[in-house]
Amino acid sequence: MFATETIAGSIFRIRQSDSRGSQTKEILIPVRATDQAALLHHHLTLTRRARDNAATMASKRTSTFVSIESRFPGLLEKVRQVFRDTENAYEGGDNPESFLWEHTMHVASIADQLARAEGLHPQIPVIAALFHDAGKFADGKYHRDGTIEEEESARIAGPLLREFGMKPADITRVLSGVKALYNEQSRKNRIGAILHDADFLSKFGAMGVASFFTKATLRGRTLRSAVIGYLSKELTYAACLPLNMHTAAGKKLATRKARDSVRFFRSLLDELREARIAALEVRPIRIPYPSRANKSLTVQLVVSPACPECGGDWDMGWSTEKGVKCEKLNMDWRCSHCGKQLETSFCLPEIV
Ligand SMILES: [Fe+2]
Repeated sequence: MFATETIAGSIFRIRQSDSRGSQTKEILIPVRATDQAALLHHHLTLTRRARDNAATMASKRTSTFVSIESRFPGLLEKVRQVFRDTENAYEGGDNPESFLWEHTMHVASIADQLARAEGLHPQIPVIAALFHDAGKFADGKYHRDGTIEEEESARIAGPLLREFGMKPADITRVLSGVKALYNEQSRKNRIGAILHDADFLSKFGAMGVASFFTKATLRGRTLRSAVIGYLSKELTYAACLPLNMHTAAGKKLATRKARDSVRFFRSLLDELREARIAALEVRPIRIPYPSRANKSLTVQLVVSPACPECGGDWDMGWSTEKGVKCEKLNMDWRCSHCGKQLETSFCLPEIV
């Protein structure tokens, strides 16, 4: 026996029960309202066997978000509120939207995809992803008193998940996955590895490019200043993305996302040059990876081919230093003709 109903506006529920009326299976499917009538009609006209097959297929596709909402009703909304409130407290505004929540949803959806590909049940990785940045603006401050943000995220997640009735063992898995992100355990902790990869992957591909420019706009940068100031880092990370991954599924996705980002940014540089907004080129430079014997890394420098003041050639130098959280690259250019100087520095991507 099958019973169907629509719950929560856009979620379609199919329940299967045996001859005594005991429920044997429940499937939740997110659907648009316009699809619901068709789905119902389709469901009612299928043979029993075909219905079983359709139900199995549907359950495979059922979104992890829907099953989280069904298991912990209201949790997603509660986490969204945490982001919106702390981000507003930090910005001093009253924005109903949250940039960090958008990023969070994106990371959670990639974590879902990676967990499935790695043969892990996606619920815990997705919930951990929902909290991975929750402590970024804890109490309206960015990195409050130098506290590590993943510790803050875990501090927020623990009581909230208890309140929603999650089992203590599962809470421990969520928290240790989140904390593994900063203490270099993320390669050994499978949930941490998925979070690490999902977080980096979210910065590349179409969504990654979109958030690069969203961030630039929020910080008052033009296309030109965003590209001059930050594209070297973006392209260097894109080129190394597969090397930075901790999971096989992440590595596979990284190859495609990195290629999409690089292709887009190269076209953008061509168009900026044609429009005479910025004449820049990409110069790849291979450097030995600091503190890793026999490892090297290609840095993708986005530079003007000659000094913009006098057209003279650049003398270029670079050095690396150990920063707080990373190995830092410092680059400087000096015009050999007029002496104009340019500097840039950024954290080098970690390579596995
Ligand atoms: Fe993140």
